[in-house]
This record gives sequence, structure tokens and C-alpha cells, in this order.
Amino acid sequence: MASGASTVCRALILLGPPGAGKGTQAKAIVQRFGLPHLSTGDMLREHLAAGTELGKLAQPIMARGELVSDEIILGMVEERISRVDCAAGFIFDGFPRTLGQAERLEEVLKRRGAGEPMVLYFAVDYDALTRRLSGRRTCQTCGAIYNVHDRPPKTDGRCDVDGGELMTRPDDREEVIRERLAAYDRQTKPLVEYYRSRGALREVDGMAAPGDVTRKVLAVLGERD
Ligand code: AP5
Repeated sequence: MASGASTVCRALILLGPPGAGKGTQAKAIVQRFGLPHLSTGDMLREHLAAGTELGKLAQPIMARGELVSDEIILGMVEERISRVDCAAGFIFDGFPRTLGQAERLEEVLKRRGAGEPMVLYFAVDYDALTRRLSGRRTCQTCGAIYNVHDRPPKTDGRCDVDGGELMTRPDDREEVIRERLAAYDRQTKPLVEYYRSRGALREVDGMAAPGDVTRKVLAVLGERD
């Protein structure tokens, strides 16, 4: 992933618990490399908003903080990466999240001749995650991410970039956050060892300030900030 989008022909995976900063860092990486940002959470929320059958299936599961089935997720991801903008590579945010998803991705990447993915793992203390998630606000228009505790907008409730309304995600309530963290422990955390054992994992200290995390990420990706 050394110098610019043209040399990148593989998957970059952002791995970490809910609130680790995957979405925040994905936006910075996209700005630098110009690769498509594939957030399975965002894709599902688009289905919810559009009222599709898939959205109706996923809504109660997401509201409980559990994981949507591998079958649904894999169908959605495989369709998305078959599009022309994914030819040079892509950044996964929130995928894969189970061993089944990781194994299927490996097959798909092999078929595309894309090789092993690079995995950035954001390590963050669990106490910090609850505070981050309960304070998160997202711009309804452009998706910019804020935090009322640590990264507030200049005007309360409004996006600095385009003035859009800032929303709280329904799954950022404390009882749902607890279940999301439990689902991460049960189903997603094993992927850390899965990718470490393949030599694909790079660990980044996600406890640092967002700008410092970005600098580390870009350094790992072979770029200077
Ligand atoms: P998804 O949307 O993927 O949510 P998530 O993984 O729980 O991750 P988040 O988006 O909550 O956190 P993040 O790491 O992106 O943090 P962010 O940068 O926003 O999934 C939602 C649901 O969809 C799942 O529960 C599941 O039901 C379903 N789903 C999605 N993908 C699936 C899959 N593959 N399989 C099955 N089901 C799936 O930051 C959070 C906050 O912290 C922000 O306020 C931000 O400003 C702040 N912050 C960020 N970085 C820092 C920092 N370094 N220091 C201080 N604050 C920071």
C-alpha cells in the first residue's frame, strides 16, 4: 500500500471493537488513497432508510446490538466489490466480523487474484468505548463524525462541514452498546488471532488522539503525513 491508489490492489481491513475509531480513520485513509470505503454498518443503515426487505430483516437485529447473518452480509459485500470502483482495492470498515465472513473473504480475494488483505487492528480500552459511543454524533448529510465529549462541532447539533443535522445512532444507547461489545468479544475478537497468525495484522494504538492515530495509520500504510 506504499505510494498512492494506483499501487493498491488489495483489501485493507479496519478491525476493532465498536467505537474504536474505524469510521473516523477510514475517512482519513479515503482522503489520502481515494479508495472506496465499504462500511457494512453504513450499507445496512442505507437499506433500513430505504425500507428494503434486507433492511427490514436487519433492523431488529441491529437494534438489539447483535450481528446480522453472514449470508446477508456476504451477499451485500460480494455485490459491492464486484462494481467497477473496487477494481483497484477497497477499505473494509466493520467487515469481516466473524470467522465465516473472514474465510469467505479469503476465497473471494483469491479468486480476484488480490492476495492477502492488510488488517489494521485498533486497540482501545473498553471503558473508553462506551464514552465514545454514547457521545458520538453523525452528520445526516455527509456522514462526518463528532463527539460531544472530545470532538464537538462548532455549533451545537450542526455539522462544521455542511451545516447538516447531527444525529445519534439508535444503537448508541447504553444497553445496546453493552450487547454490541459482548457480540464483538464472542464473534469478532477471534479474528485478531486469525489475522495475526497469517502475518496480516498491524496493531495501532487506538487510545491516542484521532490525529495521532491517523499519523500512525498512514505510517503503517507507508505514507508520510
Ligand atoms: P457498524 O456501523 O459497523 O458499527 P461498529 O462496528 O459497532 O462500529 P462503530 O461505527 O460504532 O464505531 P467505529 O469504530 O467506526 O468508531 P467511530 O469512528 O464512529 O455496525 C452496526 C451494526 O450493523 C452492528 O451492530 C451489526 O448489527 C451490523 N453489522 C455491521 N457490519 C456487520 C457485519 N460485518 N456482520 C454482521 N453484522 C454487521 O468513532 C466512535 C466515536 O469515537 C466518535 O464519536 C468519534 O469522534 C470518537 N473517536 C474516534 N476516534 C477517537 C479517538 N482516537 N479518540 C477519542 N475519540 C475518538
